[in-house]
Amino acid sequence: MVTKIFVTRKIPDAGIEMLKAPGYEVKVSDKDGVLTKDELIAELKTGEYNAVLCLLTDKIDTEVLDAAGPKCKIFANYAVGYDNIDVEEARKRDIFVSNTPGVLTETVAEYTISLMLSLVRRIPEADKFVRAGEYHGWAPMLLMGSGLAGKTLGVVGLGRIGARVAHHAVRGFDMKVIYYDVNRNADFEKEYNAGYRADVDHVLTDADFVSIHVPLLDSTKHLINDARLQLMKNSAYLINTSRGPVVEEAALGRALKAGTIRGAAIDVFEFEPKIDSLLTELDNIVLTPHIASATEETRGKMSELAAQNILEALSGNIPPNVIQAQG
Ligand code: DGY
Repeated sequence: MVTKIFVTRKIPDAGIEMLKAPGYEVKVSDKDGVLTKDELIAELKTGEYNAVLCLLTDKIDTEVLDAAGPKCKIFANYAVGYDNIDVEEARKRDIFVSNTPGVLTETVAEYTISLMLSLVRRIPEADKFVRAGEYHGWAPMLLMGSGLAGKTLGVVGLGRIGARVAHHAVRGFDMKVIYYDVNRNADFEKEYNAGYRADVDHVLTDADFVSIHVPLLDSTKHLINDARLQLMKNSAYLINTSRGPVVEEAALGRALKAGTIRGAAIDVFEFEPKIDSLLTELDNIVLTPHIASATEETRGKMSELAAQNILEALSGNIPPNVIQAQG
């Protein structure tokens, strides 16, 4: 019996080659875009696959899991976040769910710092200015920004990525760090002279930059809302490279417009790929299209790790990055 694997969209070849190596039949969707739910269900029903490599843009719910049927051993998500998958329902059907942690930590941390710099040094605005032919010579007041050194970075969510952003902020840019996480980390505090705050609110009141690094859960949806934005300093900046719905986008638009906060840099959106026009019309925000992990190196490693999880599941082993259902 041939073992069949479905990959919901083209990804870097490294992982696909790994999946083909044992002689497995690998089908990669040739659609130039995300499969609709109906398309995904139809493919899974007819294909009777043993494993699926899916993306954060695929919603894997009960209907999709049912369509995958009893032959399917694993949905291997090509992402560290897995809020697109109903993990509990997968577990009920004895289907493994896996993610790709670790391999994108450095890349996302670097990107978060680059968003902070783009924002305070107004790099996107400066680029537009030059291209528009508006540069007529050095000027003392031209496109002045502000710096990072000595400022306080507030990290909300001290997982791998949050901790790495803090590392770069302290070691690379002489920033101070405060943080909130459900788990306090004494070693981290000692190493980076970091201050713990017992709740998100106190990070917001005390930080010059707030960087969000929490997973999307029921409890983190709209973690940053009107009331919380009001707590931030007028001079503060918000950076989000986690998941869009953690920040209430309309509230952010209102806060930026009213000057409640000074600026924001956002790589993820509440209703991706749609973006509230309130945000696109503003100058004090840097907007990028969910690319924080998008380097050739990292996307290749994500492809390999997702494949590794599938290979282990198909060999009857527990995949190295298996997700346990929450709660
Ligand atoms: C993830 O992995 O969860 C990112 O959002 C995409 O790389």
